[in-house]
Amino acid sequence: MPNAIPQHVAIIMDGNGRWAKKQGLLRVQGHEVGVQRVEEIIKAAQDKGIRFLTFYAFSKENWRRPKEEVAFLMGLLSSYLDKKIDAMIKNNCVFNVIGEMGDLAAILQKKLTQAMETSKNNTGLVVTFALSYSSRREILRACQKIAEQATQGAIKPSEITEEIFSRSLYTANMPDPELLIRTSGEMRISNFLLWQISYAELYITQKFWPEFTRDEFEKALEDYRGRERRFGDTCAANGGKT
Ligand code: IPE
Ligand code: IPE
Ligand code: MG
Repeated sequence: MPNAIPQHVAIIMDGNGRWAKKQGLLRVQGHEVGVQRVEEIIKAAQDKGIRFLTFYAFSKENWRRPKEEVAFLMGLLSSYLDKKIDAMIKNNCVFNVIGEMGDLAAILQKKLTQAMETSKNNTGLVVTFALSYSSRREILRACQKIAEQATQGAIKPSEITEEIFSRSLYTANMPDPELLIRTSGEMRISNFLLWQISYAELYITQKFWPEFTRDEFEKALEDYRGRERRFGDTCAANGGKT
């Protein structure tokens, strides 16, 4: 039995800079084209009936980049929100953010909060942007939250389950991704959703993010369909689900 369409697809959008260099363009021009792909993949995911789509847009570590590049990326995010969010919301998408939003400029935080608020009752695709995101920080934050509850006597350490832990993460209301895509060929996770991708299928393509069109996305879904997901069992037919 082939796998159905995944409910949740997470994407590490990588390679904007290398793509731009290859074309003789500036890195930031790669980021600009990258934004067009975000729009295209959101539409493709909606057409495919995917429920959750999560983009790694800016990591906690990305603050280390030259300040001009960081400023450009923040500007791009801001204009994306100004130009594209209304249409996304009209299209019944729920807009969501994970990460340390408090690191962002106040004006950006306001726009993001507004987009989340306006779209929260929509029933379509949940589009999540990971911004100033670090999976280790997310896990630490969850530990602190649970430890606090334990200190107050609200929970016993022995009662902490995987479910309780999952519910303490930014992704509390989402299923774990079944498929994780990374563009530009790098064989690493770069501090993204470490807990949540325990059993995700990994799809790494040599295509740079600006080249990751709807067709490339469909190839990834096709590849996923053919994977045998065993979840530690001897064969997928045994059920697999834990
Ligand atoms: C991905 O492209 C965009 C972000 C991480 C913000 P990069 O900017 O990492 O491009 P490369 O990997 O240097 O080519
Ligand atoms: C991962 O890309 C982070 C995002 C896509 C936002 P990077 O380009 O920052 O990752 P590394 O540095 O190659 O691991
Ligand atoms: Mg990169």
